[in-house]
Amino acid sequence: MAKEWTPKSWRGMPIEQAPTYPDLAALADTEKRLSSFPPLVFAGEARKLTRALGEVAEGRGFLLQGGDCAESFAEHGADNIRDFFRAFLQMAVVLTFAASQPVVKVGRIAGQFAKPRTAPTETKGDVTLPIYRGDIVNGIEFDETSRVPNPERQLEAYRQSAATLNLLRAFAQGGYANLDNVHQWMLGFISGSPQGERYGSLADRISETMNFMRAIGITADTHPSLRETDFFTSHEALLLGYEEALTRVDSTSGDWYATSGHMIWIGDRTRQLENAHVEFCRGIKNPLGLKCGPSLEPDALLRLIDVLNPQNKPGRLTLITRFGHEKVQAHLPKLIRAVEREGRKVVWSCDPMHGNTISVNGYKTRPFDRILQEVERFFEVHHAEGTHAGGIHIEMTGKDVTECTGGSRMVSADDLSDRYHTHCDPRLNAYQALELAFLVAELLKKDVAAQPKQAANF
Ligand code: TRP
Ligand code: MN
Repeated sequence: MAKEWTPKSWRGMPIEQAPTYPDLAALADTEKRLSSFPPLVFAGEARKLTRALGEVAEGRGFLLQGGDCAESFAEHGADNIRDFFRAFLQMAVVLTFAASQPVVKVGRIAGQFAKPRTAPTETKGDVTLPIYRGDIVNGIEFDETSRVPNPERQLEAYRQSAATLNLLRAFAQGGYANLDNVHQWMLGFISGSPQGERYGSLADRISETMNFMRAIGITADTHPSLRETDFFTSHEALLLGYEEALTRVDSTSGDWYATSGHMIWIGDRTRQLENAHVEFCRGIKNPLGLKCGPSLEPDALLRLIDVLNPQNKPGRLTLITRFGHEKVQAHLPKLIRAVEREGRKVVWSCDPMHGNTISVNGYKTRPFDRILQEVERFFEVHHAEGTHAGGIHIEMTGKDVTECTGGSRMVSADDLSDRYHTHCDPRLNAYQALELAFLVAELLKKDVAAQPKQAANF
């Protein structure tokens, strides 16, 4: 690993998952233009997120991270953003109430465009073309013009990220996120849910609490925190040329920040210690995520933590585990023990999506019960180890898609073809996402009961 870090020091290193651009001059030109564009986020916001995640690392908060597997140019629009945000906020309320802790809200949005892939090419009949790598790189259509990586797409991704973030900021701060609204939406979900009774008692208690607060004069008019929320953005930092172009020195601290989003993460396929992605991420000050799959050994994890969080700052690093429902118990405990033994401060978050993908009727899908089971086992393991189950990381949409099977409004294998719209992996629809929040709420309630909250003792 290079001693000296610069925004471009990754360039000399081995790299996985990098697209092959035919026109390098055009690529360089695009990156130059991007580097003159305004940052999408401000360093102070990234620091605020680090602080909030630091609380989660210390056991005093819960992280909710979610959004599309891959954002697409075609589906960019106000309705999709609004519907996502609406579902996400309802999840956040349910989790906040159940955990009796703040929920840190982070979208996989406003920058989640680049996708790692298993194979570099795709063959249909006797035609072989480059694989689709996300809208920021190439087009999903199976023809040569679409599939050749085109740098211009990075400008479109920047534009879309800016527009998305602008609307999200307006929603988060402008009144749409008012707790009263979110509560009403949630009651609508309950009344239409086949599991309404199961979720009803939690919802009733939230209603009572809201009524009580209103009675004693705590309302959105008197307390801005009831009508506003902090919402952060995140994506996988896969396309490093784009990330580098948006990496800037923060004038207030002199530190480097990725300004493409508040938090960025390193994928399970690009987390090699000596490679480009780890090199890039170690030098920026944003909160980082690291995806941890079944092939990650405890020693390798510790070495990655050494490089990514040498100062052991709580909130800097979130470990996002994605083992699959059958593998959690075999893999998670040894990682937790290594991290605990070495006294490393991390947020543990569960991605119950990526290890549970199967193929049914020619569709990639994820059975809801397996997703839930991975989350349950994640909580069980943390209970047993005495560590904090700190968050969930999910792929979801606000729309009524049919991409994951199951849920109480059953999506069957035969339904998959009805509204299967994802550009990459199958997402929970709005009902499934909210249902998952209610089920996680039950797990969090057990947590709260098992470990009565105490003041931090350090
Ligand atoms: N500001 C608080 C928070 O973010 C309360 C809040 C307002 C809230 N609107 C919300 C919580 C919507 C969840 C969802 O926690
Ligand atoms: Mn995915």
